[in-house]
Amino acid sequence: MTAAAHPKRDFLDMADLAPSELSRLLDLAARLKRGEQKRRDALAQKVLAMVFLDPSLRTRTSFEVAMFLHGGHAVVLEPGRTSWAWETQKGVVMDGTTVEHIAEAARVLGRYADAVALRAFPKGSDWTTEREDRVLRDFAHYCEKPVINLESVRRHPCQGLADALTLRERLHDPKGRRCTLMWAYHPKPLPTAVPASAAIAAVSQGMNLTIAHPPGYELDPDDMTTIQRVASDSGGSVEISHKLDESIDGSDVVYVKSWGALRHFGRPSDEAALRSDKRDWRMTEARSHKLSDQGFVMHCLPVRRNIEIDDAVLDGPRAAVVDEAENRLHVQRALLLELIGELSQ
Ligand code: CP
Repeated sequence: MTAAAHPKRDFLDMADLAPSELSRLLDLAARLKRGEQKRRDALAQKVLAMVFLDPSLRTRTSFEVAMFLHGGHAVVLEPGRTSWAWETQKGVVMDGTTVEHIAEAARVLGRYADAVALRAFPKGSDWTTEREDRVLRDFAHYCEKPVINLESVRRHPCQGLADALTLRERLHDPKGRRCTLMWAYHPKPLPTAVPASAAIAAVSQGMNLTIAHPPGYELDPDDMTTIQRVASDSGGSVEISHKLDESIDGSDVVYVKSWGALRHFGRPSDEAALRSDKRDWRMTEARSHKLSDQGFVMHCLPVRRNIEIDDAVLDGPRAAVVDEAENRLHVQRALLLELIGELSQ
């Protein structure tokens, strides 16, 4: 949560949290999950406005439930479907299909709500432009209230918090343990927000992270710099491997995720040519047995069964994916209490 020049505190990137802030947030989430703290009225009379420019199951539901559990209220907007279609470009002559500019939308929602949250996936064809995460950054600039990133071009920080909590729960002390972030085949080139955030989550807990991907699937260099910085702050480490089975061997956790090749960003047919022979990058049951004895498999969901992860793994004892999804609720309860609840006073 950044105070920066604004008195408000946004939550746009988990890497903005100091290690002590992250630790406090995760401790609170764990206590809320165990029922040791209820804080039923901590968000009474508080409103969270959530804007989804892209679809969601977990993010939307877990935030709505979090507000309900603490006596608050959530409003959900889906521009272009149940509210006006948004224009996100600056200086545009709005004589097309968009009706409402993000500048007014963000300011108006900030007048109604105590916090405003936004999901905005990449839409463009040029990574040089998209990587600036302009829609989220502009929205946070225009909005007078704390803004929560519900997944943008570069980050999915609420997923990162849930991942960190899951690692803590399963490993007790993740420091020095081995995590492999495994690139997986997928029919479409997906954004890099989740793998970057998962990597940050793992190294924030002092883990030794291997990012295993085929050549050509490097994360953005700035993301790698951030991951390295968080790793060195927490005593963790990060390395890259192009050898999947070697990386998985003995890992305490394998985080499975697909993402697109940034060098072909916005050109899905070029990207498809690069990935077409990589269907074997899949978490199979045989691979799951290569993990350490208590090793487990994570994925942010939604997952394409038998494309990214096989049925036998998802339905077996090593899958942590549903616990991980549940933890979205608890970390977001903690986040909301910190940002706009009684703890923030
Ligand atoms: N993991 C995640 O963000 O799920 P949704 O896209 O369903 O919100």
